Amino acid sequence: MTVHFIGAGPGAPDLLTLRGRDLLAASPVCLYAGSLVPEGILAHCPEDAMIINTAPLSLDEIMAQIQSAHAQGLDIARLHSGDLSVWSAMGEQLARLQALQIPYTVTPGVPAFAAAAAALEQELTIPTQAQSLVLTRTSGRASAMPEGETLAAFAATGTTLAVHLSIHQLDQVVDQVTPFYPPETPVAIVWRASWPDQRVIRSTLAAVLDEVAPAMTRTALILIGPGLKQTRDDGEESRLYAIGYDRRFRPQSSDSPFYRGAEGEPES
Ligand SMILES: C[S@@+](CC[C@H](N)C(=O)[O-])C[C@H]1O[C@@H](n2cnc3c(N)ncnc32)[C@H](O)[C@@H]1O
Repeated sequence: MTVHFIGAGPGAPDLLTLRGRDLLAASPVCLYAGSLVPEGILAHCPEDAMIINTAPLSLDEIMAQIQSAHAQGLDIARLHSGDLSVWSAMGEQLARLQALQIPYTVTPGVPAFAAAAAALEQELTIPTQAQSLVLTRTSGRASAMPEGETLAAFAATGTTLAVHLSIHQLDQVVDQVTPFYPPETPVAIVWRASWPDQRVIRSTLAAVLDEVAPAMTRTALILIGPGLKQTRDDGEESRLYAIGYDRRFRPQSSDSPFYRGAEGEPES
């Protein structure tokens, strides 16, 4: 018996990996975080699967469900929204499973920031402007921010911020980053990325507070940074596909350290 942790993606049921789908289809028990995981994904469970929404359960209650399935030798698909590496509460469940010596696997999913970037049809790293992406949040009731991980500290780098779990305190986000970015800095709010009712707001740091609908209270990503400009007029391009750029997969001459002969063997 194994607990398969599966990243369920940002919302659209077809943004689940094939591996995740197959594990779901093969597991007689499914525990899903119903606050964010779309029910459409549950269509991949076997018809007679036992499906449990863990949103109203405590960690002890979730572990009791896992132990009960374990006692019956039943595999479990454990679904969390987006990817499991950020804000999934997988870590604490893994710690309990390790203590109980219950085996598990981990299958990644499409994170919300990637779905938001797709909704914006935008790359978030821009040559010379933003080569880092800060995935962060503001302090919440469930977890306080470690000292030093302040929005101000991240904003001081000038790069792109992807602020999670914070749309309900957008005013504080704007306040904290304002000294570091000029008022015209682009801000994008992507609400329910990839869901049928997805909404995208493009604005600026100075104007965004007036443009967000009061109904957009959860499940939104706040993206801030000069790299979010919609039209690229700076002419900056990476060197990756530049003519004359010598690289392993595109050696520019037989003198290149990357050059291999016609047979694909290294030149001697
Ligand atoms: C508990 S965290 C889960 C993050 C998730 N594990 C991931 O990989 O993105 C929930 C936060 O992620 C963001 N989020 C999750 N799904 C989203 C979506 N479809 N559209 C926009 N933001 C989303 C929101 O900021 C939300 O408050």
